[in-house]
Amino acid sequence: MKLVKLIANLGYGSRREVQRMFRAGQITDRGGEVLYADDQVAHAEVLIDAEPLDPPAGLLLMLHKPVGYTCSTKDPGRVIYDLMPPRFRLRDPALSSVGRLDRDTSGLLLMTDDGQLLHRITAPKSALPKVYEATLANDLRGDEAAIFGSGTLMLESETTPLAPALIEPLSARAARITLVEGRYHQIRRMFAAVGNHVETLHRQALGGLTLEGLAAGQWRILDGADRDRIGC
Ligand code: URA
Repeated sequence: MKLVKLIANLGYGSRREVQRMFRAGQITDRGGEVLYADDQVAHAEVLIDAEPLDPPAGLLLMLHKPVGYTCSTKDPGRVIYDLMPPRFRLRDPALSSVGRLDRDTSGLLLMTDDGQLLHRITAPKSALPKVYEATLANDLRGDEAAIFGSGTLMLESETTPLAPALIEPLSARAARITLVEGRYHQIRRMFAAVGNHVETLHRQALGGLTLEGLAAGQWRILDGADRDRIGC
């Protein structure tokens, strides 16, 4: 692919804007040689303003989503893309969240521009365990493990019962919940079905992948070992 297209696809600017960056000599190779729009140079060799290019298509990253951010490009409030370089919102292919977390849920969120990978992770048959911690308005009753684990719990306006979910009490009003599916507001609706209310919700892990020291609002690109932890 010609450099001008590669760089425009990474969201650095329109083709016209990127042409201007070439003319201004902002785009060089690692040896400092100025590059031209039609050059075909390996991605890793290209610098813009002496900085390496963002990763090519096939990007997979994890974000520690804070409370108060929406998994959307368009919401009028704060959105997850506000936590990344502005050009990440302009990439082609587009960078999307892998599933969603509610605005009031924090924790581990994957993002990718690889549609097939996104599909593999979210497809029901992937059954990737998603581990959450919830704090609750009321004490646990004691029968939640049986109800959530039954495989027969039917939420309002759903046509199929939930797959069995694991619940481990952490205190009278806190629990760890492991899901293998991801329905709309699932955990909030599960607790509502047993007369409780989720006050805070945080996703700690996906498969063997955890946030490992990533503070709220931080993100990092996943490598091969991380991909192994989520089985893709
Ligand atoms: N369950 C919810 O209710 N909300 C989330 O964001 C994730 C799981």
